Amino acid sequence: MNSFISWIGGKNYLKKAINEEMPTNFNRYIEVFGGAAWVLFSKEKQASFEVYNDYNKDLINLFKCVKYHRPELQRELSFMLNSRELFEIFKAQYNVHGMTDIQRAARFFFLLKTSYGSNGRSYGCIKKNISIMSTYLERVEKRLSCVIIENKDFEDLIKVYDKPDALIYCDPPYYGTEKYYQVMFSESDHQRLYKTLCNIKGKFILSYNDCDYIRKLYKHFNIKQVSRMHNLKARYNEDQNLYHELLIKNY
Ligand SMILES: C[S@@+](CC[C@H](N)C(=O)[O-])C[C@H]1O[C@@H](n2cnc3c(N)ncnc32)[C@H](O)[C@@H]1O
Repeated sequence: MNSFISWIGGKNYLKKAINEEMPTNFNRYIEVFGGAAWVLFSKEKQASFEVYNDYNKDLINLFKCVKYHRPELQRELSFMLNSRELFEIFKAQYNVHGMTDIQRAARFFFLLKTSYGSNGRSYGCIKKNISIMSTYLERVEKRLSCVIIENKDFEDLIKVYDKPDALIYCDPPYYGTEKYYQVMFSESDHQRLYKTLCNIKGKFILSYNDCDYIRKLYKHFNIKQVSRMHNLKARYNEDQNLYHELLIKNY
């Protein structure tokens, strides 16, 4: 199935390649930088034990509300008309306290669905019916029913769930694109992730943009380049229409 949201850096287009790189013998699947969880959702089950994690509190609140309060969330969404006016009101309420988790989750879902490129900041002028879109949440609730949802920094999460039979999938903010996410990620975090992954007991797959910095950092690991069409470049410049990414593994 597909994810229920779009997310900057979401791996919809790369999920097939990532699934193909997975080992056959793992019993726990840990998605460390969860976002919209395109890889998790791409299979009915990745393993008997699954963890979805992200450090973004609003995203985790949304996932938890879909898992535990889906009918109430759908009810809240059923009152929301897709309009620029409501978009601006919800955006202004973003840092306001005093809402229930369900009210917050509904506003966050609305902002993601109606914004340009799911950036949550500018109204997308797209004809979408929020109430109809929310019907998909029943399938999502089912898929998440046995998934553990966490809201930890990657290093803490990996410490807790790393085991020899684990497959740890990491999709951090790409090098140089960190500013697009609400959660801060710095150069020292890229280094910290590298050190963490060097010391794990299980297997990992890591996706990154193809750049010298990352190639150098992970030079002792198994690096594979994958390419896809770059939408914007393809439109303007036929010679440079491929965007390269890396899948890095410790096996
Ligand atoms: C490239 S996106 C993940 C996209 C995801 N794979 C998908 O398919 O939608 C990177 C994610 O890392 C999260 N993140 C940033 N810093 C983090 C940290 N220190 N620990 C865990 N997650 C973090 C961001 O909130 C963002 O959702």
